[in-house]
Amino acid sequence: MNTVIYGTSEKDIEKAAKVIACGGLVAFPTETVYGLGADAFDPEAAKKAYAAKGRPSDNPLIVHIAKFEDLERLTPVFDAAENGGKEAEFCARVKKLAEAFWPGPLTVVLPKRNEVPKETTGGLDTVAVRMPSSEPTLKLIECSGTLVSGPSANLSGKPSPTCWQHVQEDLGGRIDGIIAGDPCVGGIESTVLDVRTMTILRPGLITPEMIAAVTGKDVSYDKALFEKPSEDPDFHPMAPGQKYRHYAPKAEMHVVPEEKIMDRYMEERAKGKKVGCIVRPDAKTFFAMLREYDEEGVDIILASALPEGDSLSFSIMNRVLKSAGYNIED
Ligand code: TXA
Ligand code: MG
Repeated sequence: MNTVIYGTSEKDIEKAAKVIACGGLVAFPTETVYGLGADAFDPEAAKKAYAAKGRPSDNPLIVHIAKFEDLERLTPVFDAAENGGKEAEFCARVKKLAEAFWPGPLTVVLPKRNEVPKETTGGLDTVAVRMPSSEPTLKLIECSGTLVSGPSANLSGKPSPTCWQHVQEDLGGRIDGIIAGDPCVGGIESTVLDVRTMTILRPGLITPEMIAAVTGKDVSYDKALFEKPSEDPDFHPMAPGQKYRHYAPKAEMHVVPEEKIMDRYMEERAKGKKVGCIVRPDAKTFFAMLREYDEEGVDIILASALPEGDSLSFSIMNRVLKSAGYNIED
């Protein structure tokens, strides 16, 4: 398959939107990572996206919207809001979150409408939704006439793509097109929040403190985030994505205390190894560094651990630990 590289002109976005409306796959820029766009209401398009990524089909997709009203096409929660009571409080909470954080890197998990196919939600009766802040992508969604599901546009298991060239490396020849927009400023995927339980299923740049400040509710992390995911086939975490090996570079990777990283570097060099170091990993550059070290063909990557207790560090360490397959030295 020939993968067309689109620019961000109005004409190019219109062409790309047509491809999505016809059931095709087009990767798009966002402020977090690049996404692999497909018609969220078309089960066949969802299947194609899973196949292109090599992703297990029980790992649900995030649906991207361009304006708040789009939410009503995905979830019935606003239907009953006029009745007051519990539903009204819930709707007000969703609205507060949207006002504070959209467009931006927050994904909310809500009950889904029947019209949202199970293929898009990995068989779940909830749907994950976010409004990204990239202008070309908002236009793409609007022009497509539908809503756009978008998993990260990498091959399953590989580091998430933070520029369009990463998408081409992984999915060139496997998808219809790529919108060559700006590199991502955020660099790690959105925070995923189950709004019913106010539980963070995937940590990101929007922290529990920020969410609590806006909603006045206590926010907790899903317990599964504190452990190495079980390899038991019967393990079903709340965010199905949590159980899969993620973001893995080709090289073996170790997480080491910051004060030991120089010594460990010298040790590995003395063994004749080609070593890549990531000192104080940050969200914006982490995934790109993994890909660069892969290209350089390093034998081992050493990443320093960030301090505990800070929410942003926690989000970054979630990616670091997964990439390293929880290979921690102390
Ligand atoms: O920043 C992002 O969120 C990027 C960009 C492209 O928007 N997208 C992204 O999608 O990271 P993906 O598919 O790679 O990750 C989606 C995560 C997975 O961990 C999945 O398990 C979780 O969201 N998820 C999706 N729908 C869910 C649902 N209904 N309930 C619980 N978790 C859900
Ligand atoms: Mg992903």
